[in-house]
Formats: sequence, C-alpha cells, structure tokens
Amino acid sequence: MAKVQSRNSLSLVILSIFVIFYLNNIVVDGKSSFGRVLDPVKMGLKKEKLSHFRVYWHDIVGGKNPTAVPVANAPGAKKSPTAFGLITMIDDPITEGPELSSKLIGRAQGLYASASLGELGLLMNMNFAFMVGKYNGSTISIMGRNTVFSKVREMPIIGGSGLFRFARGYVQAQTHMFNLTNGDATVEYNIYVFHF
Ligand SMILES: *[C@@H]1O[C@H](CO)[C@@H](O)[C@H](O)[C@H]1NC(C)=O
Ligand SMILES: *[C@@H]1O[C@H](CO)[C@@H](O)[C@H](O)[C@H]1NC(C)=O
Repeated sequence: MAKVQSRNSLSLVILSIFVIFYLNNIVVDGKSSFGRVLDPVKMGLKKEKLSHFRVYWHDIVGGKNPTAVPVANAPGAKKSPTAFGLITMIDDPITEGPELSSKLIGRAQGLYASASLGELGLLMNMNFAFMVGKYNGSTISIMGRNTVFSKVREMPIIGGSGLFRFARGYVQAQTHMFNLTNGDATVEYNIYVFHF
C-alpha cells in the first residue's frame, strides 16, 4: 500500500515537472506558434504617462433630439422609486466647457442601467471616444458605479484604445447642472489615466 502511494506521488512529481516545463516553453521561450513574448519598447511602449483631462458630459433626455434613450425596462421599473431595471443607451456629447455649445471633444457611447434597489445608483458602461487633435479615434472604457446624488462619484477606467492602449485609472464625476423640468444633466468628468 505504502509503496503504491509513493510510486503515485513520484509520477505526480514527474508529471508536474513536465507541465511546468511545457508551460514555460509556451510563455517564456517565445517559440510557440500561438504565443510569444514581445519587447515593449519595440511595440512603442516606452514610458507610461499619467494624464488628466477635464471634460463635460451632456446627457440630453428631453426635447426632439435626445442623446440618451431608454431601451429596456423591467416590469417593475416604472413603479420602482430608483427605476431599478431601467437601461438607457447613450451617445452623449463631451465638450471642453460646461456649455453644450463649447468645443466638442468627443462622445460618450454606451449605456447606463439602474442597478440599485435602495438609492438611485447606476451601472455605467461607456466608451469615451475622443474626436480632436492627436486623441482623435482613441477611446477610454469606463465601467463603474454612479450614485448620481453623491457629490463625487468615482468610476474605474478599465482599458482603452489608440493612444490609450493599456489604459488604467479612474474618473471622478460631479454634476454641474441638472434640469428638473426635462431631466437633462451636465456632468463634469475629471479623468486620471495611466497610458503610454
Ligand atoms: C477625426 O478622424 C476622422 C476619421 O479619421 C476624420 O474624418 C475627422 O476629420 C477627424 N477629426 C479631426 C477634428 O481631426
Ligand atoms: C430646462 O428645460 C426647460 C425645458 O426644456 C427649458 O425651458 C429650460 O431653459 C431649461 N433650463 C436650463 C437651466 O437649462
């Protein structure tokens, strides 16, 4: 019995060594057909930078040309005081200043969903698509929790594209204006992002 067990554990050790050797070959050796290790500098990833942007996000729900439209509603959402289960699709303009007429920097495209039973709390899932200067075509992806009545809401930046490849960081959102008549909102976004 003891002999059988020790033979078994010996084959387990040999198997583990083989597996580690095999994985090492794939990940480190760089010779595998589907994966290899790259030199970050050759990929143009020289130095990680930390950038700050301050922009204004306009959620236009009222009027003839809304940029935020409800697309799905749970059966109870209309009766829920927190609109739990409501999903809204957005293509919101992002501008340099608080006025909608100020310079367009890009658009916030994605959706927000009422994800809290107890307070007005949104799950935000959106891409900031930049449309000016060297940032034109680059995006930052934001996904986080937005309790809209809190003074400052912090949400993670979970990635990016173009000049924001390998992005990580956070945004802080602060309501600048909320129109009680039509529901339109302007929110100041301070973006803190590490990128190359
Ligand atoms: C941004 O890029 C698009 C697509 O390449 C181009 O059509 C547009 O003119 C550019 N805008 C600016 C402001 O450079
Ligand atoms: C709020 O919305 C109403 C209705 O669209 C509009 O008449 C009013 O000017 C808006 N108020 C502000 C401060 O933008």
